[in-house]
Amino acid sequence: MAIDLGTALTERLGCRYPIVQTAMGWVAEPRLVAATGNAGGFGFLAGATIEPARMEEAIVEVKRLSDRPFGVNFHMYQPNAEHIVELVLRHGVRAVSYSRSPGKQMITRLKDAGVVCMPTVGALKHAVKAVQMGADMVTVQGGEGGGHTGSVPTALLLGQVLDSVQVPVIAAGGFKDGRGLAAALAMGAAGIAMGTRFLMTRESPVPQATLQRYLQVREPDAIRVSRAIDGMPQRMIDNELLVHLEQAGAPRRLWLALKNGLAYRRHSGMGLGQMLATAFKLRSAGELSAAQTLMAANAPMIIQQAMVEGHPERGVLPSGQIAALIDDLPSCAELIQRIADDAQLRLAELARRAS
Ligand SMILES: Cc1cc2nc3c(=O)[nH]c(=O)nc-3n(C[C@H](O)[C@H](O)[C@H](O)COP(=O)(O)O)c2cc1C
Repeated sequence: MAIDLGTALTERLGCRYPIVQTAMGWVAEPRLVAATGNAGGFGFLAGATIEPARMEEAIVEVKRLSDRPFGVNFHMYQPNAEHIVELVLRHGVRAVSYSRSPGKQMITRLKDAGVVCMPTVGALKHAVKAVQMGADMVTVQGGEGGGHTGSVPTALLLGQVLDSVQVPVIAAGGFKDGRGLAAALAMGAAGIAMGTRFLMTRESPVPQATLQRYLQVREPDAIRVSRAIDGMPQRMIDNELLVHLEQAGAPRRLWLALKNGLAYRRHSGMGLGQMLATAFKLRSAGELSAAQTLMAANAPMIIQQAMVEGHPERGVLPSGQIAALIDDLPSCAELIQRIADDAQLRLAELARRAS
């Protein structure tokens, strides 16, 4: 029996399979996004860590490598957010993702141009708010997911959100295979979104030394949540840096935050005034405490140490717990095809039992 994997997600995003490669800072670069699209999935460029001056070039590069639709992720508080929206519109990018909702005006502008707005949320109340703000679909990331994460496991969060919103819901956090895709579809999701699994592919730009750390981890408990990086809960592989930061006193953390703040300023091209204004906006929006504001620049710059420079002991290793169950680095084409084939087999078996 042939099982159709088409859903509201494949229809709206124009991809073959309901499989999304999520934005990952420094990792979701043009090559990975294009490989995902060419394989029938849908990839998001990590707009929050791509240098503003390189953003248009990155979009054009994806288009050069693939004629499939793709998306761009951005952070509403990053100084070039407006410029990214301009580029999205100018280059006919299919979708945008974000974790903090842009204002209604920006969302309306994107939607009027046919751009699909699909935020990622980690809690029910944020899903409801995102839909009120105009989201076309929502990706829900359960606590087992990588990077900044909430505390509710995927299976619970997905059920909660499916019961509460009327837009298609995509499940994220803890997926790697056809078993997971079949389960998510059976629960009512429109597809799955994966970060860690795509980080561990052949088209991932992450240096070998760092990838080895991801391959070596075998215990889901060794991929834990800590606030030591930027004050917000973030899931990552336990390493030397994390232990050091957790043991460091306040002066050392402050020194690190200031040092990384300056490095981030150089990378993002932000003036000091702009940086202070961004920090102030985050504080007044109630998003961050004073200490978190100071630490906010830590995350992107320390992550870069592992993801770009190839120093897994010196950088943060954001990861979902699923890394403990992954032991290969397939190409995106192999990965997506085997997920789709396996999900189809499993769903066909269930359908056979039902008939
Ligand atoms: C290395 C890494 C970097 C990430 N960076 C970002 C980011 O910049 N912006 C974002 O919204 N989410 C980020 N995330 C979260 C992912 O987009 C995604 O929601 C998450 O990885 C899903 O869970 P999984 O890892 O179990 O698949 C990151 C995750 C990882 C593993």
